[in-house]
Amino acid sequence: MILVTGGTGLVGSHLLYQLALQNESIVAIHRNSSDLNAVKNVFTYYSNDPKLFATIKWIEADIIDISSLTKAFEDITHVYHCAAMISFNASDYKNMRKVNIEGTANIVNLCIENNIKKLCFVSSIAAVGKPLTDNEITEDNEWNVEQNNYGYAITKYGAEIEVWRASQEGVAIVIVNPGLILGPGFWQGGSGKLFTNMYNGFKFYTEGITGFVGVVDIASIMISLMKSNIKNERYILVSENDSFKNVFYAIADGLSKKRPSIKATKILSAIAWRVSWLIQKITGSKSLITKQTAESSNNKYRYSNKKIIEGIGYKFEPLSDTIISTCKFYLKDL
Ligand SMILES: NC(=O)c1ccc[n+]([C@@H]2O[C@H](COP(=O)([O-])OP(=O)(O)OC[C@H]3O[C@@H](n4cnc5c(N)ncnc54)[C@H](OP(=O)(O)O)[C@@H]3O)[C@@H](O)[C@H]2O)c1
Repeated sequence: MILVTGGTGLVGSHLLYQLALQNESIVAIHRNSSDLNAVKNVFTYYSNDPKLFATIKWIEADIIDISSLTKAFEDITHVYHCAAMISFNASDYKNMRKVNIEGTANIVNLCIENNIKKLCFVSSIAAVGKPLTDNEITEDNEWNVEQNNYGYAITKYGAEIEVWRASQEGVAIVIVNPGLILGPGFWQGGSGKLFTNMYNGFKFYTEGITGFVGVVDIASIMISLMKSNIKNERYILVSENDSFKNVFYAIADGLSKKRPSIKATKILSAIAWRVSWLIQKITGSKSLITKQTAESSNNKYRYSNKKIIEGIGYKFEPLSDTIISTCKFYLKDL
C-alpha cells in the first residue's frame, strides 16, 4: 500500500489523482485544517468519476507528530513524501526547519522501522548548488551554504540529508528537485498565487531566469521513478528555463489580462522588500515580497533536465502548454 504526504497540496493532489487512476491502494495523510474539497476539485479537472477520490483512505496525521504518523504507516510498502512548509519569510524559518527537516526525519525513521521498499522525496532546485559561472546547473553541483543561505533552501537541503540517511539504512530512495511548479487548483498560495496576482492586474516583472515545470509532469515522473529499478538518485525536474518576464506575459495572455509593464530592477526590488518588511512590522500581516523573493526573482539560473530525460526517457510538456491549460482551469474555477 502507498502512503502519500502532502496530498492536500498542489503536487500531492495531482499525484493522488494519477495514483488513483492506476488503481493503487492509497493512504493519504491530512491535517485537521486541510482542505479536502480542494483535492476533490483537482480530481474534477481530469475526471467526472467520484469513485476515484473515494478510493483514497484519509488518515489525520501531522509529520511532526510521531504517534499519528506511526498509525499512518500501518501496511505501507511505498512512500511519496511531498509535505513541506514553503515560505520565504524569515520569521517562518524556525517552524520551517521543524516541518521540513524534523518532519522528514520522522518519515525516514518510520520508513526504516517499517522496512519500506521505496521512498520518493520531493525536494527542490533550491537545494541544488548554484554555479559561479553561467553554466547549466546539474544534479552534481555542490551545495554551498554561503550561496544558498536562505531558509527554505537550507531546510530542503537538510531534508535531503535525512532522505540519504534512509538510503544508507537500506531503504531505496529517489529524490526529485523540481523547478517552479505550475499547475491548477491552489490559487491562493505558492505558485498558484502567480495566476491570481496576474488576474488581479499585477504590474511588475523581472528579467530573472529560473526553471519551470508542470505539476502533471512532476506526478508522472515520480510514479515512473517509483516503479523503475532506479534507486538512490536525485533528478532535477524542469521542463524549460525561462524569464519571469516571459512567463508573466504568457500567464497574462492566457487570462486575457494586461501584461505587467513595470520592470522590477534589483534596486526597485530592494526598495520593495524593505517597504514590505516595514508594513509587515507595523500591521503584523505577512508580506509576499520578502528580501529573499526580491533577490531571487532577479537571479538568472538555468537548470539541466538531461539526467531525467535520459534516465527514464521522459518528454516534458512544453511550458507554453502548461501555462495555457493552467489559465483555463483558473478561469473555470473563478
Ligand atoms: N510549488 C512549487 O513551485 C515547488 C517547487 C519545488 C519544490 N516544491 C516542493 O514540492 C512539495 C509540494 O509542494 P506544493 O507546491 O504541493 O506545496 P503546497 O501546495 O503548499 O502543499 C504543502 C502540503 O504539505 C502539507 N503539510 C505542511 N505541513 C505539514 C505537516 N506539518 N504535516 C503534514 N502535512 C503538512 C500541507 O498540508 P495542509 O493542507 O494540511 O496544509 C500540504 O498538503 C514540497 O515539498 C515543496 O517543497 C514545490
